[in-house]
Amino acid sequence: MSIRPIKSLSQATPTMEGAGVELHRVFGFGDTTESDPFLLLDDFRNDDPRSYLAGFPWHPHRGIETITYVLAGNVTHQDSLGNMGTLGPGSVQWMTAGSGIMHQEMPEGDKAGRMHGFQLWANLPSSEKMTAPRYQDISGEDIPEETDDDGVKVRVITGEFWSKKGPVDGIATDPQYLDVLVPPRQTKRFRIDTYRTAFAYIFEGSGRFADASKPFGVLTEKEVMGEEVFMRDNSGNRTLVRFGSGDEVKVEAGDEGIRFLLVSGAPIKEPVAWHGPIVMNTQEELRQAMQDLRTGHFIRAH
Ligand code: CO
Repeated sequence: MSIRPIKSLSQATPTMEGAGVELHRVFGFGDTTESDPFLLLDDFRNDDPRSYLAGFPWHPHRGIETITYVLAGNVTHQDSLGNMGTLGPGSVQWMTAGSGIMHQEMPEGDKAGRMHGFQLWANLPSSEKMTAPRYQDISGEDIPEETDDDGVKVRVITGEFWSKKGPVDGIATDPQYLDVLVPPRQTKRFRIDTYRTAFAYIFEGSGRFADASKPFGVLTEKEVMGEEVFMRDNSGNRTLVRFGSGDEVKVEAGDEGIRFLLVSGAPIKEPVAWHGPIVMNTQEELRQAMQDLRTGHFIRAH
């Protein structure tokens, strides 16, 4: 067993998306080699309805999958296939855009005005970029949740973990997407196969992801628990931890415990041509997508 070293630590940065939604971008719209097969992660936790109610009106996607995980509030959605629905707290929507969909995603806060959740974009390999679009809507009750003897709690959104299998299936990049809670001062190890690209996104509490075998890359107590790395504002921790290679991730929870998304997937290793919500392999394919949008051929029959 080898523990994955920490490759980098970063904080999500405030950004504006859709029709004026204030959110935090964890990563995205940059070099994708480090995160392959994932393209983007947005943290849309927000407690002020004025900052999110404008939502994400009609827009296209092609060549990717978007995975929306809601913690609080609702997201109503509607798309060019005629689907319509509401994602409630604890639920997940896995949307395979494939050859193209038009959709809208409109956040509505809960009674306290909170709209909390995450949207992850996973790339599709060239062989599946023009596949038929597909939705998998999963309600909170259908997501397996396991609690270990030491109180560590894991929700398995996709992939297999502790012999539980997440409800999302048939995904090209074989992702594992977990929501993990480690109680105060507990240490826990999580197996992640070596071939996978892996990251953790901390969204509550604090802790330390350690590389026990190699002192290099281990963070000091001050760096990990102090303000410079795990700076927290009123809306909680927003730290991205990217891991190097190894087959395990080890975390030591701080005094308040720690909650994080633990995501990994098989890299696609293909060229990326990216324009807004469309991600293809070549510039020519991007031009085609733009032309399809202009000429009304974006939605394909399958
Ligand atoms: Co969208």
